[in-house]
Amino acid sequence: MNRKDRLYQSEITAPEDFVFDDRVVRVFPDMINRSVPGYSLIVPMIGVLARRYAQADSRLYDLGCSLGAVSLAMQAAVHKPGVEIVAVDSSMEMIRQLQQNLAEDSDAGAGAILARQGDILETPIENASVVVLNFTLQFIEMEKRQELMNRIATGLNPGGILVLSEKIRFDSEREQELQTLWHHDFKKTQGYSDLEIARKRDALENVLRPDSAGQHMDRLKTAGFGQVYQWYQGFNFVSLVAFRKDGVNL
Ligand SMILES: C[S@@+](CC[C@H](N)C(=O)[O-])C[C@H]1O[C@@H](n2cnc3c(N)ncnc32)[C@H](O)[C@@H]1O
Repeated sequence: MNRKDRLYQSEITAPEDFVFDDRVVRVFPDMINRSVPGYSLIVPMIGVLARRYAQADSRLYDLGCSLGAVSLAMQAAVHKPGVEIVAVDSSMEMIRQLQQNLAEDSDAGAGAILARQGDILETPIENASVVVLNFTLQFIEMEKRQELMNRIATGLNPGGILVLSEKIRFDSEREQELQTLWHHDFKKTQGYSDLEIARKRDALENVLRPDSAGQHMDRLKTAGFGQVYQWYQGFNFVSLVAFRKDGVNL
């Protein structure tokens, strides 16, 4: 676990679409830290947000949880009674590793983390005060994104929040080109070679489909989120907080 990501170093590996399998699980923390600018800041800040908006006797959802970084951050930050953290991922390999990590962790905090394998498109969202998709929606089929946001808005209690972190694309060609260049520069400073960056980009091409900020805003408004605020941007990676229209939010 937590080995260095060298998956795209070899020129021999046949090009194939990116999947969250055993090979990825073994290097995932290293991979996401060296690929997403600000990941190590975003995760604990989601804990900070959850601490404010989590409600007693409610659920906090970590949808597309991978190895549960967000669940663990929420668990450490939230101290309300009766809170249950529901961590869902479609990758059996991710969930198996997360469950093993949780079983070995004797310092588990107040809220229990229920880690389960499943499709977030089929996961009921009920009695939720915090729902997080930290770089997950970008992997969901385009046509299914609206319905998922609608279900999340319906499942959120008044006063609850959605935290949505995504890689985005820019409407301006020039900005798209520059932000991509800067992201690749970031990856180079993290030790990735040009070859690794190019191979990973090819592998993700059919799998990770980014929306623009405008598309996210429109979709969230349609779903019933009245206020949407961007709290983080690092090149082409952003994170938003969305409040339900009828919520009283401070
Ligand atoms: C970039 S990772 C998320 C990182 C994680 N949220 C974190 O903060 O460390 C995307 C995750 O979404 C999961 N995923 C993709 N589509 C899914 C779906 N339909 N249902 C559940 N999980 C899904 C993948 O298996 C993968 O673990």
